[in-house]
Amino acid sequence: MSFLSDLTAIQNIVYIIASILFISGIKMLGREDTAVKGNFLSSFAMLIAVLVTIVDVVNPLFLISAIAIGAIIGSTIALRVKMTSIPEMVALFNGFGGLATFLIAWSEYNSLPDNYFQHLLIMITIFIGGVTFTGSIIAYGKLSEKLTIAKTSIVTKIFTTIFYCSIIFLLFSLAQPFLTIPHINFFTVLLVLTLLGGIGFVLPIGGGDMPVVISLLNSLSGIAAAFAGLLLLNNVLIVAGSLVGASGLILTIIMAKAMNRSINNILFVGYASASKSSVAEEQGEVSPINVSDAYLILESASSVVIIPGYGMAVAQAQHVVRELGELLEENGTEVKYGIHPVAGRMPGHMNVLLAEANVPYDVLAEPEDINPIMDSVDVAVVIGANDVVNPSATEEPGSPIYGMPIIEVHNAKTVFVLKRSMSSGFAGVQNPLFFKQNTRMLFGDAKESIGGLVSEFKD
Ligand code: TAP
Repeated sequence: MSFLSDLTAIQNIVYIIASILFISGIKMLGREDTAVKGNFLSSFAMLIAVLVTIVDVVNPLFLISAIAIGAIIGSTIALRVKMTSIPEMVALFNGFGGLATFLIAWSEYNSLPDNYFQHLLIMITIFIGGVTFTGSIIAYGKLSEKLTIAKTSIVTKIFTTIFYCSIIFLLFSLAQPFLTIPHINFFTVLLVLTLLGGIGFVLPIGGGDMPVVISLLNSLSGIAAAFAGLLLLNNVLIVAGSLVGASGLILTIIMAKAMNRSINNILFVGYASASKSSVAEEQGEVSPINVSDAYLILESASSVVIIPGYGMAVAQAQHVVRELGELLEENGTEVKYGIHPVAGRMPGHMNVLLAEANVPYDVLAEPEDINPIMDSVDVAVVIGANDVVNPSATEEPGSPIYGMPIIEVHNAKTVFVLKRSMSSGFAGVQNPLFFKQNTRMLFGDAKESIGGLVSEFKD
């Protein structure tokens, strides 16, 4: 056996080991006590896959320098990023994944495809990679609120039309070897249309739907990588790409289900009237409450459900929330946490924060478990949550969020809503919960308000 075929055999064995480690790592991510190890295992798998791939590169120094620069930039960003900005960072990383596959397919095109199958793979990889790249940049802009082009604007409409044109042109490009239309450089037109089309894919989608879109783009970046793997005949890229593609798609479906929306509705319809209803209409008087009075009610409650939302993350109130939960329990109150799947700004956001504060996993309940017993709950304490407790989602068929499952806190005997003002939540819609008879508004920063309650209990 020659040295090269020996090396290819070793590379393939290492790829199989890396694939097994990827799969085990992903499985470990499913449990909070093994998640960190799972993350390391998958990163290690990626490292050995990369190392074994570059051993036979003619000038590895060039590649190693590129990897080192990328690693430094990537880890600096990851270390600095705030927890609340993780979805934006994921959007950017997806985009770079798409760009990498786009460039791979481009370079394969330049080295002239040998057969029609390769032509097919190149065109599809260019399309998915390009749409993922520019689509993710737009998703990043929308989620970080740096990009505020209205989805009904003419600019959005132009880009959306380009997106549909790019799909039609992709079909032409696939058939190109059988067509005899001169004077058109199919490939260049496809490159340009694809990049502009990615913008048109994401621009019309509302901010509230961005997490689902980011998860879908994550899946697309995996699918593009799997196609690039087929193109390069690289097994580990096929496996890793398929894993990302499949897991991203599963997450997309789970999140769409949590909002009771079809993916089609999210991508092509959106929160149709969200911009209209963002204008807060007066719905009556609210009843404010102060910390001392809230304490007196909590002190005599026998059951309390805490519903955290994005505001708890902003206020970084999770530790003081855990303390309040413990003090209530010491006082003989049964305490549970109602966790909505899309509370916060990323999947599992509330679970991560509460786990960081050492809240035991067994007191966390999902909406389908907590809603049936809500009418027997003495006090529901809503901490910086808004959309996920908005009764319009179940009561007002015209509401932009109608159909999204919520935590039905309005059925509790008393509801405390902790927030700083009457501003709306992510979906930009008014919340009739605030005006209900059994609701008391505890205005202020969540950490300060909960801190005040904790002090009252300790005094
Ligand atoms: P939101 O509906 O966004 O409401 C958060 C509330 O927190 C706001 O009304 C805000 O009111 C309050 N708040 C902000 N800072 C605060 C602070 N320091 N102290 C106290 N309150 C504070 O949050 P939610 O109920 O968690 O719902 C999540 C929304 O985000 C859903 O629409 C969901 O679709 C969307 N989304 C979800 C994800 C995922 S995957 N979880 C990702 C992106 C978007 P004030 O300004 O008046 O304080």
